[in-house]
Amino acid sequence: MSRRALMAGNWKMHMNVVEGCRLAADVARTCEGVTDRDVLLAPPYTILSEVSHVLANTSIILSSQNVCWEEKGAFTGEISPTMLQDAGASAAIVGHSERRQIFGESDELINTRVKGALSFGILVILCIGETLDEREKGRTFSVLEEQVRKGLDGVTAAQIEHVVLAYEPVWAIGTGKTASKEQAQEAHAFLRELIEKMYEKNIADRIRILYGGSVKAANVDELMAQPDIDGALVGGAALDAESFGRIINFK
Ligand code: 13P
Repeated sequence: MSRRALMAGNWKMHMNVVEGCRLAADVARTCEGVTDRDVLLAPPYTILSEVSHVLANTSIILSSQNVCWEEKGAFTGEISPTMLQDAGASAAIVGHSERRQIFGESDELINTRVKGALSFGILVILCIGETLDEREKGRTFSVLEEQVRKGLDGVTAAQIEHVVLAYEPVWAIGTGKTASKEQAQEAHAFLRELIEKMYEKNIADRIRILYGGSVKAANVDELMAQPDIDGALVGGAALDAESFGRIINFK
């Protein structure tokens, strides 16, 4: 089963308008002629609209880094799915470990975000991943299973077509410490089997599972060569057009 690769850049809390537009334009240039894989950029909310203009004539997908489930109302500090669409975005990262750890987002809250975004036709990139402590205690698979089952609770077989999973071991994020290709493949294969148990084989075969955590030019090729790794969710190395360009153009 060959799945179309998705190479995603999560800019986190970086980039003002000028910097972000320049980076988006540079990334777009490195993607010219790239037709066999998808590219996605997730800038901060404040520059989505400007970046969307830069990406207007490209096939690069524009994403936010989170999303609320309601269209409007008393949700101070939140951004709705239709606001994202209005700003030119069609995708949202949900459940990033920084949201879980720094801002206390629970699986239940994340599930509400997932279902809300899907109901508005937003492509959801659902992040899951174990901490170092959980890995060392041998709990990696049970943590992943709980995050996926709770995160996707109530998501239908039709809706799952609009979900991408991103396996991001917390200990590998921003640490320079990448999971080995074997560790990543093992987790991805586990996740695909889990999706088969929850849905069906056909869906498990099609769902894209990205790896995230210190992906860089030097390790992207071996990660992408793994049978169950369908793309990358890149933080630090996506802030530089040359390094992200190299990642997009993995061999
Ligand atoms: P780094 O690539 O900086 O480790 O970040 C990964 C990440 O959290 C992407 O969402």
